[in-house]
Amino acid sequence: MTLVENLKWRYATKKMNGKQVPEEKLDYILEAARYAPSSSGLQPYKILVVSDPEKLEQIKKIAFNQSQITDGSHLLVWAAWNDYSYEKIDDVMLATSRERGLPDNATEEYKKMLWSMYEPKGEAWRHNHAARQAYISFALAIAAAAEQKVDATPMEGFDNKALDELLGLEAMGLKSVVIMPIGYRDESADWLAGLKKVRTAKEDFVLRIA
Ligand SMILES: Cc1cc2nc3c(=O)[nH]c(=O)nc-3n(C[C@H](O)[C@H](O)[C@H](O)COP(=O)(O)O)c2cc1C
Repeated sequence: MTLVENLKWRYATKKMNGKQVPEEKLDYILEAARYAPSSSGLQPYKILVVSDPEKLEQIKKIAFNQSQITDGSHLLVWAAWNDYSYEKIDDVMLATSRERGLPDNATEEYKKMLWSMYEPKGEAWRHNHAARQAYISFALAIAAAAEQKVDATPMEGFDNKALDELLGLEAMGLKSVVIMPIGYRDESADWLAGLKKVRTAKEDFVLRIA
């Protein structure tokens, strides 16, 4: 199946059947997420994989009791840097230069230029920028899951602050952005399973400027 066919197959699954996603499929989805592009290559986010049933029960309670969180196999949590700093940018770029066999100062001017752009924008803007990078990774994970015929529900319907506390994200310098239970659809119990997928018509969606 092509990518577009897989995207038509997937849907925001409302009811999952408790079946486990094999480790190699989970790994494939996470690798797709890891290889996502990000602004300046900073990858200013992490993915937490939650599979402990007790934790998942606690998370469901702060996510409008959405059943996919406990009926799914794993819960993936994208958590973005709470803020950028020159040091964080330096850490990533220095590690990249070293892996590429470049001199330590290869990105000196670029790092200074980047921080001079980011610093005046303020903490809220910077966290938001990091969160936007996380969404790119999130989208690739959705596509990768569909390719693996694994169901996934993109979710913003949760209390971010409560999840940050539950997972101890603040101590890691992170804030939760978006979550995704993965698993397998329970077609007979899912009200959305049989409904037509609806999108904006192509002619209204794609605006060609000739
Ligand atoms: C960022 C984001 C957040 C979403 N949050 C939720 C959610 O909390 N719970 C849920 O059941 N669906 C959620 N959805 C699913 C959307 O409602 C769904 O993707 C959209 O209606 C299109 O339907 P489809 O994904 O089935 O094609 C979310 C989707 C995205 C992209």
